[in-house]
Parts: sequence; structure tokens; C-alpha cells
Amino acid sequence: RVMLDYPKTTISKAGDLKVGQPVSFTYPDNSSPCTLVKTGRETQGGIGPDGDIVAYSILCTHMGCPVSYSSEERTFKCPCHFSVFDSELNGQMVSGQATENLPRILLNYRDSDDSIEAVGVEGLIYGRQANIL
Ligand code: FES
Repeated sequence: RVMLDYPKTTISKAGDLKVGQPVSFTYPDNSSPCTLVKTGRETQGGIGPDGDIVAYSILCTHMGCPVSYSSEERTFKCPCHFSVFDSELNGQMVSGQATENLPRILLNYRDSDDSIEAVGVEGLIYGRQANIL
């Protein structure tokens, strides 16, 4: 696959995150809204001291509505046509109209200053022909 030149963007300190309280950011540019979440359970591909921090594009892969995080179910839910994506399984589609998983934001954890940075995207952000415009 084509290697895109993704920026490195610092999002938060791991120690500032609270379980189930999502943090909004944009990546790889200002028109791509994303959410960082500490799920509270060690998660596939999760980073940070507890291995439970993940991030996704919040644009639903069906028609681009913003999904929101449910801390009880640890899923992302779309209000438009009720697609559900699993935050603990790489954004896998659980149910609904979408046919693609929620794009995952690749994260890097820096031990030295407890910071979390976004370094890439896995999957295509809704409405784009390439993640880097
Ligand atoms: Fe999300 Fe249709 S836009 S399910």
C-alpha cells in the first residue's frame, strides 16, 4: 500500500485521560474530527500504561455522520442510521448500514513525557479518496 506522509500530532497526556471520557481532536488535518478514548480495559492495539487508549475517526463510514462514544458498551454509535462500531476490535462494524470499519487512528505513546501522539490512519476517512489531502 501507498505510504502517506502522516504528521505527528500530540493529543494528550495519558495521565490526563479518564476512563470513558472521550477527548476530541482532529487528524490528520482540521477537517477530520476524531476521538481519543481510554476504554478502561486492555484493548487490541491499545496504547499507554494500561494498554487501553485507542482513537478513531468519528465520521461514520456509511454517510459521514459523526458517531459518538458509549462508555457503557465501549462502542461508537451513529445517530443517523444506527451503525455500531466496536472500539475494542479495531473499529469493527457490529451492526447497521455501514459496510466498512471505523477508521482507526494509529497512536504512539511516549514514556518519557507520558504523551500520546497520532501518527497515522488505518482505513479511509469518510468522503476522501486519500487520507492526506
Ligand atoms: Fe452512520 Fe448511516 S451515516 S449509519
